[in-house]
Amino acid sequence: MTRRKLIAGNWKMNGLKADAVALAEAVCSKYSSLENKTFDMFIAPPFTVLDAVCDVVADSGVWVGGQDCSVFEKGAHTGDVSPVMLKDLGCGGVIVGHSERRADHFETNELVKDKASAALSAGLGVIICVGETLEEREVGKTLEVVGAQVKGSVPENATAGKVVIAYEPVWAIGTGKVPTTEEVEEVHAYIRQVLADVLGTDIAENMQILYGGSVKPSNAAELLGLPDVDGALIGGASLKAEDFWAIAETVM
Ligand code: 13P
Repeated sequence: MTRRKLIAGNWKMNGLKADAVALAEAVCSKYSSLENKTFDMFIAPPFTVLDAVCDVVADSGVWVGGQDCSVFEKGAHTGDVSPVMLKDLGCGGVIVGHSERRADHFETNELVKDKASAALSAGLGVIICVGETLEEREVGKTLEVVGAQVKGSVPENATAGKVVIAYEPVWAIGTGKVPTTEEVEEVHAYIRQVLADVLGTDIAENMQILYGGSVKPSNAAELLGLPDVDGALIGGASLKAEDFWAIAETVM
């Protein structure tokens, strides 16, 4: 089984227009200059610069998307952005269920699943995030929590081409702490087993499962070399083109 690797950058709430355009240009020029694009690249800038970044990204082969979307297509939902609007801008995908949204906006598995479904209906690819808190890990509930999140957040019509899972332990995000490679592989293999139970073996075997949480150039090769790790969802290190690219180089 050879799944294509995906190197994804979540810029979170960072980047004013000029910086965002410069960062996107740097990433795209590197990716488009590759003769053999053996891996995929995705960036998720803030909504405010998405239009400008979509213009930069245009024909580079880099995939761009939002960090969240509404479950609705349009209407009286002040402040929300619909998946149809993202598609209209030129986005190819969207991240849903990030732990920061689950925590800051009380997003439940049900809501995340509805967002993923709405995004799929709009023709977007979806990265669905899951991950345990430190307390949950310390009491030995990691697999139980992550398994329930996968079962509760992944739509029944998910396919390997359109849906990606990102395992991001909450305690590893932005902290510099990273689980051991054994811990990461254990959770990824378990996620694949849960996906097989709910979607069937074929889809589960082909679906990309990313690791996220303090991925850096110095630890990327080890993490991305694990059998069930099909790429990375990178926060802080995706804001520096050299670091983001150095991580990508580990899968070339
Ligand atoms: P860091 O890479 O900054 O730890 O963030 C990971 C993340 O949350 C990506 O979605």
